[in-house]
Amino acid sequence: MKNAEIIFVPAPGRGHLIYMVELAKLFIQRNESVSVTIFIIKFPFDTGVSSYMKSLSNHPMPRFTILEIPPSYSELYKSHNFHTLFSAFIEGHVTNVRDQVMAMRQPDYPTRVAGLVVDIFCVSMIDVAKELSVPTYVYSASGAGFLSIVLHLQAMTDFQEEDISEYENSDAQLSVPYFRNQVPAKVLPAICLDKAGSQLMLLCARKFRETKGLIINTFAELETYAVESLMTDNKIPPVYAVGPNLDISAGDEDCDEVADILKWLDEKPLSSVVFLCFGSFGSFPQDQLKEIALALEHSGHPFLWSLRPVSTESHLKKYTDLDEILPPGFLERTSGTGKIIGWAPQVAVLSHPAVGGFVSHCGWNSILESVWFGVPMATWPLYAEQQLNAFEMVNELGMAVDICIDYEHHVFYKGEVKIIDSKIVESKIREVMEDGSDIRKKVTEIKGKSRNAMAENGSSCINLGRLIEDIIAS
Ligand SMILES: *[C@@H]1O[C@H](CO)[C@@H](O)[C@H](O)[C@H]1NC(C)=O
Ligand SMILES: *[C@@H]1O[C@H](CO)[C@@H](O)[C@H](O)[C@H]1NC(C)=O
Repeated sequence: MKNAEIIFVPAPGRGHLIYMVELAKLFIQRNESVSVTIFIIKFPFDTGVSSYMKSLSNHPMPRFTILEIPPSYSELYKSHNFHTLFSAFIEGHVTNVRDQVMAMRQPDYPTRVAGLVVDIFCVSMIDVAKELSVPTYVYSASGAGFLSIVLHLQAMTDFQEEDISEYENSDAQLSVPYFRNQVPAKVLPAICLDKAGSQLMLLCARKFRETKGLIINTFAELETYAVESLMTDNKIPPVYAVGPNLDISAGDEDCDEVADILKWLDEKPLSSVVFLCFGSFGSFPQDQLKEIALALEHSGHPFLWSLRPVSTESHLKKYTDLDEILPPGFLERTSGTGKIIGWAPQVAVLSHPAVGGFVSHCGWNSILESVWFGVPMATWPLYAEQQLNAFEMVNELGMAVDICIDYEHHVFYKGEVKIIDSKIVESKIREVMEDGSDIRKKVTEIKGKSRNAMAENGSSCINLGRLIEDIIAS
């Protein structure tokens, strides 16, 4: 009998891609007669995918194929807003994905297509799989909390006939069955409340319910309540918590810059440095940058600050005029204690013993990385589902200091951006850096649990085995 082939369809963008590739690697390690093919959908601008693909092909793995899927049309998606543009872009790849899957199902193809694992943002591929009778699984690179919210908002809309757009800008608190605490409407992902965006999210959630399983990049010991509630909900497909799926190998790009940062860290005392990093698209208005700068200066802690301009494009873009955007004399006064960088090698920094705290935008991957390395976080969400992640970390799990949980800022944001005062930021930085705090103890404990989950007989390891068996059998 032919070996089983499992096709992965990650969402475009480096962030989405690497976590799915890490999961795919586990599949081939687990069973020698399983092969994987990753379909790569690339944005028309650089998000670091090409360099990542190159590093993958520099280290070839058996039974592991990457295949770039070109779009079949590329007209400008005029009728779309920020939230729906993304799915329209994915839609443009449906024809070529269908053709590729069909080619892989020809009798002379060496493997048997056993299933499709698609990112939650690539749900149009669920229809392709259905049309071809290939079992589909959905993979969420974000946490169980986010998936829960999307499923719950859809249940409210479809089963309780509520209009969820009424929660936009509302002070309401929602009872969500997968959360221990009430969830403030203010932390719901903007896409869920935007008129067009919510239609898209609802459509996604309805499609999730049609799949064979929901795979989540989390582990039962982290989001215990959410994972257990999802696993025991018989109105949704089986849930598999298989994380953390992280790429913790040293990347082979920007070597001089990375070496320079690590050398700087090497000279700092144990757990003394506060690290500030806000993801690929994280940026702040200039007034806010000044407040952050003052907070860092007054806190007295050494700092490593990844400071980036507003940009929709290159993940390598940086400021060229730091003196103009920061308070007068700041760079000079902090030259002994602080270092400002553009793009940050986040894994290398978080794994460094000198780093004692992490001010983060709360992207899910950043949360998993900070947990994996046991670095306490202070939350400063900016966009996507980061506000919800921050709420989870602070309120549900008691594992982070809250600088804020409902801040919003990104390239497309049209609302008023509030400015958080330097005094508040300073006190929160002191809090996250505090020695022996409850949060630090908790993060240290969960660090051990994250590693156990992935080890032999750990919870995620067992779930992964179950998942592979289920895919092969279906
Ligand atoms: C490995 O995969 C093959 C299908 O390719 C399947 O027949 C076999 O049972 C799997 N082995 C384990 C240990 O799951
Ligand atoms: C995992 O479980 C199996 C079966 O119970 C046992 O034989 C094995 O020693 C365990 N491995 C570890 C590392 O605990």
